[in-house]
Amino acid sequence: MRKKLIAGNWKMNLEWNEAMTFFTNLIQFEKSNALNADLAVFPPSIYLRHFFELASDKESSIGVGAQDCSAMNAGAYTGEISASMIRSLGSSYCLVGHSERREYHYESNDVLSEKVERLLENGVTPVFCCGESLEDRESGNHTFVIDNQLDGTIFELSEEQFSKVVIAYEPVWAIGTGKTASPEQAQDMHAFIRELIHSKYGAEIANSIRILYGGSIKPSNANELLSQPDVDGGLIGGASLKVEDFGAIIYSCQ
Ligand code: PGA
Repeated sequence: MRKKLIAGNWKMNLEWNEAMTFFTNLIQFEKSNALNADLAVFPPSIYLRHFFELASDKESSIGVGAQDCSAMNAGAYTGEISASMIRSLGSSYCLVGHSERREYHYESNDVLSEKVERLLENGVTPVFCCGESLEDRESGNHTFVIDNQLDGTIFELSEEQFSKVVIAYEPVWAIGTGKTASPEQAQDMHAFIRELIHSKYGAEIANSIRILYGGSIKPSNANELLSQPDVDGGLIGGASLKVEDFGAIIYSCQ
């Protein structure tokens, strides 16, 4: 049985005081509710160490993760943050290939593969994002696009490496738009991804990999989406920025 993972992707939001207040409240929420899901927050990287320390101090099991990492190990790469630094800040996860990174930073399959490798070498779980554009969905190419995004990246990994990855299916047309995939569309794509994993890595790995859904999840649609059999949790953007909304989404997994 796969345990659900509910993850908040804060993107470039919340300043220091707001972020610390939020995270403190989230820990309180976690402590006062018996939760069925794993929780993780992906704040801007400069907050990671503080969040990790706060979580450790309060004996919270909320994981913290970075939103991106460098494809390089170390060296003269101004502005970059390496996977080993992310690990040394206490982060257990890192997003790779979010559609905003693919779009604004032109990240290719090759670069994403390098990032996944660096993270695995450093013991950080990659949360690998994939998703099709509206055009691909409307022309019926969506499964082909997802197949291609996985084939050129994480499907190159060994069984041992692949079993450590989390996948997030996030249709680009649903991110930050208020439009969500219907529960059937989400389930169909998740089942398709799991089937691809099955043919590549076998039943045991296919049944254990977590595939999260992301794209305009909110309290009003969370239950329907997250109760689909192949949806193992959510990657939540806008609605992860308010403790009440994020809490309501977490609750919908109970
Ligand atoms: P959203 O973002 O929930 O605001 O659509 C999801 C994401 O980008 O991960």
